[in-house]
Amino acid sequence: MHPMLNIAIRAARSAGNVIIRQMDYVHDLPVNEKSRNDFVSEVDRNAEAVIIDTILKAYPKHAILAEESGSQGESEYEWVIDPLDGTTNFLHGFPQFAVSIALRHKNVLDQAVIYDPLRQELFSASRGSGAQLNERKIRVSKRRHLDGSLLGTGFPFRENERIEQYINTFRVLFPLTAGVRRAGAAALDLAYVACGRLDGFWEFGLKPWDIAAGALLIQEAGGMITTMEGAKDILESGNIIAGNPFLLDELSKKIKTALSNLNSN
Ligand code: IPD
Ligand code: CA
Ligand code: CA
Repeated sequence: MHPMLNIAIRAARSAGNVIIRQMDYVHDLPVNEKSRNDFVSEVDRNAEAVIIDTILKAYPKHAILAEESGSQGESEYEWVIDPLDGTTNFLHGFPQFAVSIALRHKNVLDQAVIYDPLRQELFSASRGSGAQLNERKIRVSKRRHLDGSLLGTGFPFRENERIEQYINTFRVLFPLTAGVRRAGAAALDLAYVACGRLDGFWEFGLKPWDIAAGALLIQEAGGMITTMEGAKDILESGNIIAGNPFLLDELSKKIKTALSNLNSN
């Protein structure tokens, strides 16, 4: 195993322990609202501190981009961290959340871990070496068409101006599929695309730490991830379409049509 992946796994498991230890006390946790409907708790901060500490102990010169504490350091190695993806779920005791850690080297995704501490599912990938779930190789699904597919998505709960865009894509896609799920943790949704539990996924307005690890997992599992506007940098764009390579084209076309209908009205 790549030594940097090893550190990412150690960091993710330690953060997972912090999260699980606090689970029974969620209703007593002090919670702040960073912006409308965007919450952060002590658990997010403690989990992030443990991750950063583990990484910097091993690689003191590496740079960090973390959801709660922002960026620190400058290096060609940059760790992109979401200490608790699915905070709203966690705060409600809704069992769908994860730790997400990725490493970029010279701006290219290199290592990825997404850890679901409740199910003890550890998704990991190293660039060029495939993707695993608990050490077993994973692949994206083989479904060739939207017909019969299961898609994941996220609602634009922070930004009201995106609701129209979102509803239009949903209106177009939903009737073509076997179902659409909104589980509330984008990083896990992407991990589920990587292991074939979901055939595809779309969401607007994600942040780099929601996407980074999941993007590498999907690519290493034989899938594809792209942006709605065709932008090259998926992490910066945040408007994401992902899926197996057969389905991605159909999914992208339908989403683009839905968005262009909206623009022309
Ligand atoms: C959120 C979750 C959610 C997605 C949001 C993210 P957070 O992350 O991934 O599923 O819809 O866009 O911000 O805030 O719980 O880390
Ligand atoms: Ca997140
Ligand atoms: Ca988070």
